[in-house]
Amino acid sequence: MPERITEVTGFLAEVLGPRAPLTVIVDGGDHGAAAAFAARLAEAFPPSARAWTVDAVLGLSGPAGGRVDSALNVLEPAADRVIVYLRSGRRGNGDGERRAQVVIDHHDPQWPVIRHVHPRLADPERWYLTESRAFFGARAADWDTRFGDDMPAYAKAVETAVTRPGDLVLDVGCGTGRALPALAAAVGPAGRVLGFDVTPAMLAAAREAGRGECARLVLADARRLPLPDAVAGLVFAAGLVQHLPDPAAGLAELARVTRPGGRLMIFHPTGRVALAARHGRTLRPDEPLNENNLRPSLAAAGWELSRYEDADDHFLALAVRRPPC
Ligand SMILES: C[S@@+](CC[C@H](N)C(=O)[O-])C[C@H]1O[C@@H](n2cnc3c(N)ncnc32)[C@H](O)[C@@H]1O
Repeated sequence: MPERITEVTGFLAEVLGPRAPLTVIVDGGDHGAAAAFAARLAEAFPPSARAWTVDAVLGLSGPAGGRVDSALNVLEPAADRVIVYLRSGRRGNGDGERRAQVVIDHHDPQWPVIRHVHPRLADPERWYLTESRAFFGARAADWDTRFGDDMPAYAKAVETAVTRPGDLVLDVGCGTGRALPALAAAVGPAGRVLGFDVTPAMLAAAREAGRGECARLVLADARRLPLPDAVAGLVFAAGLVQHLPDPAAGLAELARVTRPGGRLMIFHPTGRVALAARHGRTLRPDEPLNENNLRPSLAAAGWELSRYEDADDHFLALAVRRPPC
């Protein structure tokens, strides 16, 4: 298997190469990481293309490299300039990605993962699945060790969602299945629970934790669920919507499989401000879970938001499926 860095830089070179003439700026990361990444990216361009395709590949490092101003403070993206941001989790540096067209998770420099590419540069279909699996697959084995303490918060959220005994409920983006025991208890023996996730390693961890006993675990993409229309009474989605490349389209797919009057619970065991702070960034007004954005996108997808809570210790949005017009 090629190294991750080779896969990531190879893909970026493929996407950026045809856009020449172009300046690519690599910013963020820890301790000279930007320069090292930029060098690998430059190597990824075919030798014949290098001289003219990339005018300059600059690695500009942030505070750890001794420069307080990041490249983003002096340079805006432009038609002939692309900013690639390495997200390293260094506190206070996470906002640097605000203006980047490409964001790479660089917490582990041996395992860089693309987390965002501006859709004008590349159709998400070209990178989203591979990179999501690389991101969550690397975290699956110790997910419960790191976050297992949150299980009571999931149980409380499921209680709030109020499902009906006998219902079909879905946990979409179920990960290791932390919500599945509570969902199974809520629908009782007459109900059914399906856990969907796109990352095989997450489903394997769910099975290992015994969660396959309370739900059927299915490898599937939330954007194309293998279900007929209007079958589910409740869709539970924890930590999913903000990871979808097109959250509005994702909400529409969740609506498609939900019966009129059925519910959607979007949940996270940490509030948005606290979660952003954990990742070293501040909240942006354009984030999909901001109430001002979520309410209209839910409405456009066929949902009506009935409850919205964004506290320090949890995020919760409950919506009801409107009957189709
Ligand atoms: C932040 S984790 C949350 C996991 C679990 N819901 C929890 O709360 O512990 C997001 C999960 O969504 C999954 N995921 C991301 N994109 C997906 C997609 N398009 N379809 C299905 N699952 C997806 C990931 O594989 C990962 O397991």
